[in-house]
Amino acid sequence: MKKVLVATDKPFAPVAVNKIKEIIEKAGHELVLLEKYTEKSQLIEAVKVANAVIIRSDIISQEVIEASNTLEIVVRAGAGYDNVDLAAATNKKVVVMNTPGQNSNAVAELAFGMMIYNIRKGFNGASGSELREKTIGIHAYGNVGKYVALIAKGFGMKVLAFDPFVSNELIQKDGIEPVGSVEELYKRSQFVSLHIPANKDTKQSINYQLLSLMPKNAVLVNTARKEVIHEADMIKFMEERKDFSYLSDIEPDNKSEFEKFAGRYLFTAKKMGAQTEEANINAGIAAANQIVGFFATGDKTFQVNK
Ligand code: 3PG
Repeated sequence: MKKVLVATDKPFAPVAVNKIKEIIEKAGHELVLLEKYTEKSQLIEAVKVANAVIIRSDIISQEVIEASNTLEIVVRAGAGYDNVDLAAATNKKVVVMNTPGQNSNAVAELAFGMMIYNIRKGFNGASGSELREKTIGIHAYGNVGKYVALIAKGFGMKVLAFDPFVSNELIQKDGIEPVGSVEELYKRSQFVSLHIPANKDTKQSINYQLLSLMPKNAVLVNTARKEVIHEADMIKFMEERKDFSYLSDIEPDNKSEFEKFAGRYLFTAKKMGAQTEEANINAGIAAANQIVGFFATGDKTFQVNK
């Protein structure tokens, strides 16, 4: 019997927790729940005696990993695993996995919710505008990008995509126009939806130079990571370009700096993209099944620290 910890600062919907519990217990393991914890020490105490842990954006630092001599696997129920110290995990022979694709539709839907709220002026009675026939550029054509494309087509938008890791043929197969450079994407798109991961190549890559290429009334929607934005450049750009809006599912470091841009920024209180019952169930079930499979047969599909 293994101890499987679900450590979520931002909890899953109860229905998802019940399903995770069912899968874990059916396989003969024990489920331990640590939700809405406020101190790192609580996470460390719980991880110390766990064999597996399911997390969301919870920070699994070197300190957390090294605190446990029982931990064998960490599953990030979601896509981005920049919150896990992969090198520390590898050193300790801890397998790290994600559950790609499981929460993508929820994130894509939120991107549209934010765009519509913005172009309809926060529903304040003023006349707004529509998405139809506008151009949206999808920056990175992965699982979320694909759902954004699908929904955008339903809105009657022209859809462009840039992703150096996806072939033009694959993008074209979905009826989307691939563009040859990130600069071209920003130049041609009134709306840009960001779906790049946060890594050493992408951090602070959305900078003044790139934003300056965007056309009149441009909107940047960030449901990816705050780290990919060059925040000082963003503030400078918004001071100059009174027609530009920045919508983000992740609060910037200097949130108060944006108060002067009333009506042109929108930040959710707590990363809300994947916060739907459906996404919680999908990602939670996938994480639980991956852990059960790992303990049963050593299955390492979706391992990210190889
Ligand atoms: C992800 O990487 O899967 C998303 O950013 C969702 O993160 P969350 O599980 O913390 O909501």
